[in-house]
Amino acid sequence: MKTEQAVILENVNIAKDTWKMTLQTSIAKEASCGQFVQVQVPGFYLRRPISICRIPADDRIVLVYKTVGDGTLKMSEMKAGETLDLFGPLGTGFPVEDRDVMVIGGGVGVPPLLETAARYIADGHHVTAVLGFNDAQSVILADEFRKLGCDVYTAAMDGSCGTRGTVIDAIRENSITETFVLSCGPLPMLKAVSENYSDGYISLESRMACGMGACMGCVVKDQEGGSLRVCKDGPVFAIGKAVL
Ligand SMILES: Cc1cc2nc3c(=O)[nH]c(=O)nc-3n(C[C@H](O)[C@H](O)[C@H](O)COP(=O)(O)OP(=O)(O)OC[C@H]3O[C@@H](n4cnc5c(N)ncnc54)[C@H](O)[C@@H]3O)c2cc1C
Ligand code: FES
Repeated sequence: MKTEQAVILENVNIAKDTWKMTLQTSIAKEASCGQFVQVQVPGFYLRRPISICRIPADDRIVLVYKTVGDGTLKMSEMKAGETLDLFGPLGTGFPVEDRDVMVIGGGVGVPPLLETAARYIADGHHVTAVLGFNDAQSVILADEFRKLGCDVYTAAMDGSCGTRGTVIDAIRENSITETFVLSCGPLPMLKAVSENYSDGYISLESRMACGMGACMGCVVKDQEGGSLRVCKDGPVFAIGKAVL
């Protein structure tokens, strides 16, 4: 892991309140799927954790982020050619196992699953992608999953695209039988995934400070009452390991 001034190559709006930023950085060389970077947004003291969505070359990464507060809003205003201070790659990402997989993503939990799907496809495995959103205007990256060769199913809570309802509704409606799952998204979705699947991994979110395992600011409990640091032991944990 390292701190580096990355050069913004592109920063574009791709869906409702959602942006895609491509950065030139040597962090790409060390990064793996499901890891994240801590972004030092100019003018803000605490770094913002953002997942690595794609590693298109060994000198560039793609971040996809939603503008939810002042930090991400400022990020969305940055232009190509400007630099952004990144710290990473951080965390324990998704394992790349020798088998077919279903990736289940919700909202801005979808981005880290794209690089993950790319790695499974590159190894010759079949990937089913089930992607859930609030509405059709919020759909992100579905075409990118299709271009990789994944079978893609979408769900929208308001019924404006794909299955009306949740990712679990989409899995049932399409009779998807894959049993090994990798998932990232909002907590209610991860709880539903954990109730329906026991073989796989989920990626958690937590408020973070140091991002590297030192401050214990991001801790969640495991089933035995022990502490798990989301930033270092995770964000990816085997289903059933962390108390949700
Ligand atoms: C491991 C990890 C990966 C993430 N990947 C993505 C991603 O790929 N795309 C994306 O859109 N979002 C992602 N998030 C959430 C993202 O970090 C927050 O949306 C962002 O920090 C909000 O910053 P803000 O200044 O706009 O919001 P504010 O609410 O103003 O932020 C105030 C403080 O709270 C922290 N904070 C707020 N929301 C979160 C949150 N959900 N998780 C952790 N800290 C938060 C901020 O970092 C900041 O320190 C990820 C979070 C984690 C923990
Ligand atoms: S953010 Fe400091 S230990 Fe996780």
